Amino acid sequence: MKILVATEKPFAKAAIQGIREIVEKAGHSLTLLEKYGTEEVFALELADKDALIVRSDKVTAMAIANALNLKIVVRAGAGYDNLDLPACTARGIVAMNTPGQNANAVAELAIGMMIYLARNQFQPGTGSELRGKKLGIHAYGNVGRGVAWAARGLGMEVFAFDPFVPAEKIKQDGVCPVDNIETLYNTCHYISLHIPANEQTKKSIGYDLLSRMPKGATLINTARKEVIHEEDLLKIMEERADFKYGTDILPDNKEVFLAKFGTRFFGTPKKMGAETAEANVNAGLAAATQIVNFFQNGDTTFQVNK
Ligand code: 3PG
Repeated sequence: MKILVATEKPFAKAAIQGIREIVEKAGHSLTLLEKYGTEEVFALELADKDALIVRSDKVTAMAIANALNLKIVVRAGAGYDNLDLPACTARGIVAMNTPGQNANAVAELAIGMMIYLARNQFQPGTGSELRGKKLGIHAYGNVGRGVAWAARGLGMEVFAFDPFVPAEKIKQDGVCPVDNIETLYNTCHYISLHIPANEQTKKSIGYDLLSRMPKGATLINTARKEVIHEEDLLKIMEERADFKYGTDILPDNKEVFLAKFGTRFFGTPKKMGAETAEANVNAGLAAATQIVNFFQNGDTTFQVNK
């Protein structure tokens, strides 16, 4: 089988080496397409491939329509909002993610941004500490759980809201489950977002929730830009001089945030959450293994378009 790794944001070298070893050992061939620039270049390269590994790269209906041999697409990472799932399903193409594989890297970035903002981006002046503060984890998946674990180590009091995770499971981690979203925002100085971007969550973090946060509020977004109601966030930050925002995905109006809020706003220049060698290796090798297992024995564990 012909397998394509197409990444606008390349994997670490060690990850590529590992992916190649897994794929070639199983008798398949690997093509690497990095920093390809345009969708047309990507679609052209995909046209004769049987399998595809991507990161946040957009896999559109157009690219899929041109790839007549394509049988499986694996998003090496957690969020699969970049895959056109209906287009995959319509063609019988299996779509997968690699849940948990890059979670620790994202969790560490969330904690790093919390410290960075608490210390006013290391500019002169008095900052604050995380110890004793209340942290709300909005969605308790692999990343949320990792943030909770590290935050507890720093002495934070950790709360979580996730209607899909049993309260008992959350409690077992020493985290306090809350059964409605308003309580989470009412209670916590820090909120760390870990919800996926979908029709239910887009623009869902708006004025109603953010205005509930207590004085000294910090919102951390290592999830997706789309879940934020940007106009509402701007309004809150204009109204409240105590409100800070740290994000791994720059807002549409990043110039406005940068100009208006000084050290109260921080955004990574490019999405950095999964940018560690460890995360690249974990997610990349998992993706390659999932493809090999799919071709070898029809294994569809981690399929997201069942
Ligand atoms: C994910 O959903 O796994 C993260 O957002 C990482 O995305 P990336 O592989 O594009 O860095």
